[in-house]
Amino acid sequence: MFSTIIIIFLVSHTILSTTTPVTVYNNAYFYPTDTHYLLSNLSSISSVNDCLCQCYNNTICFTANYFGTTHQCILYFAQLNQGQLRVATAAIDASVYSVENNTTVSFFKRTNETVYNIWNTTAGGSSIYAVSGYYSGNYYPTGPAQVAFDGNLTSRACNYGACNYSFGALACGEKTGFYLTMNGGPKVLVAFYMSSGFEPTSRVRDPMTITIEGSNLNGSTLILGSSWTLIYNGSAGFIINPGRAAWGTLQLIPNPLTAFASYRLLVTSKQGSDTCSSYGEVLFAVR
Ligand SMILES: *[C@@H]1O[C@H](CO)[C@@H](O)[C@H](O)[C@H]1NC(C)=O
Ligand SMILES: *[C@@H]1O[C@H](CO)[C@@H](O)[C@H](O)[C@H]1NC(C)=O
Ligand SMILES: *[C@@H]1O[C@H](CO)[C@@H](O)[C@H](O)[C@H]1NC(C)=O
Ligand SMILES: *[C@@H]1O[C@H](CO)[C@@H](O)[C@H](O)[C@H]1NC(C)=O
Ligand SMILES: *[C@@H]1O[C@H](CO)[C@@H](O)[C@H](O)[C@H]1NC(C)=O
Ligand SMILES: *[C@@H]1O[C@H](CO)[C@@H](O)[C@H](O)[C@H]1NC(C)=O
Ligand SMILES: *[C@@H]1O[C@H](CO)[C@@H](O)[C@H](O)[C@H]1NC(C)=O
Ligand SMILES: *[C@@H]1O[C@H](CO)[C@@H](O)[C@H](O)[C@H]1NC(C)=O
Ligand SMILES: *[C@@H]1O[C@H](CO)[C@@H](O)[C@H](O)[C@H]1NC(C)=O
Ligand SMILES: *[C@@H]1O[C@H](CO)[C@@H](O)[C@H](O)[C@H]1NC(C)=O
Repeated sequence: MFSTIIIIFLVSHTILSTTTPVTVYNNAYFYPTDTHYLLSNLSSISSVNDCLCQCYNNTICFTANYFGTTHQCILYFAQLNQGQLRVATAAIDASVYSVENNTTVSFFKRTNETVYNIWNTTAGGSSIYAVSGYYSGNYYPTGPAQVAFDGNLTSRACNYGACNYSFGALACGEKTGFYLTMNGGPKVLVAFYMSSGFEPTSRVRDPMTITIEGSNLNGSTLILGSSWTLIYNGSAGFIINPGRAAWGTLQLIPNPLTAFASYRLLVTSKQGSDTCSSYGEVLFAVR
């Protein structure tokens, strides 16, 4: 108990001595333009300072909404201008804290970028292109990785990897994925969401672990494994089953620093035994 009090004091002190400006809006709710801007929804946060500590501890927390009556602390990576303030009644004791920062995080929106389908590929290794079909080295004809950028939860990528439409196993669809180069130039990937496929009825095709790599090389050099730098190796966000055609949980990139123009995502394991690894959407949060 005693040491807890000391820690809270020190953290509060750090906040008081920082020069980062914070603007407070009392009796206000914050509604981001896109609900995916939610960073965390914390309960049992005893004070507004604790809520601000949580926000300061995350380099992409720009807006905090604290509810004094329920001790709820909701953090967003949207700036104030990426959402709306609405009036809350005084009894709710809600306040919005805006941490002013030049950084704006937004979601990558594909326009005409080519999404290269790959298989039999591991982080650091060279890419092997996958083509449309039903067998080894193929993705299901309506399931190229490009559909992961169409904003449609009921279209899905489905890549067989070393397997085929009539043979399912745990390893099917591993070492598959895609790479693409963003038209807008290099951006720092700070977080991402994936959504589950709409089929089958169980979650066997959900990717469990993935790698993400970045590159600033261009053209044909991107096929080479040596072009890529590993920036993420972990959960795809489906540890908790979200259900079908539903969003997984937000995953943060640890220490996001480098802006890359190209990103490569590879599925390294999936949930169960089935023919392909599958996902509906990939939403990249970049700054
Ligand atoms: C935060 O979680 C509470 C329940 O713990 C829920 O009622 C509320 O709607 C959530 N808020 C947001 C913005 O997700
Ligand atoms: C800050 O965040 C890191 C990583 O998310 C966590 O390990 C640490 O406990 C947090 N610190 C505080 C004071 O909440
Ligand atoms: C503000 O932006 C800089 C990068 O420009 C970043 O290093 C810093 O952590 C950000 N601060 C907050 C509180 O978001
Ligand atoms: C915003 O960026 C400019 C120049 O890039 C810098 O001078 C200024 O201090 C920054 N402001 C904040 C709040 O980070
Ligand atoms: C995308 O569109 C731009 C401008 O219309 C064009 O210059 C570029 O070549 C297109 N890229 C692809 C991959 O089609
Ligand atoms: C898959 O990759 C391995 C290692 O790079 C290679 O030895 C093997 O020939 C590849 N298999 C196919 C079918 O391309
Ligand atoms: C979403 O994808 C499904 C499956 O391809 C398709 O049937 C549906 O029409 C699409 N919805 C929209 C709004 O494009
Ligand atoms: C599908 O894969 C299995 C296992 O590798 C193989 O035995 C079977 O012949 C393949 N089927 C077709 C139609 O290629
Ligand atoms: C990438 O393309 C740009 C413009 O086309 C060129 O200036 C640059 O040298 C290329 N970089 C590499 C590493 O090939
Ligand atoms: C990713 O993490 C797993 C588990 O920690 C590890 O076995 C694997 O070697 C890592 N992959 C890379 C490319 O670092």
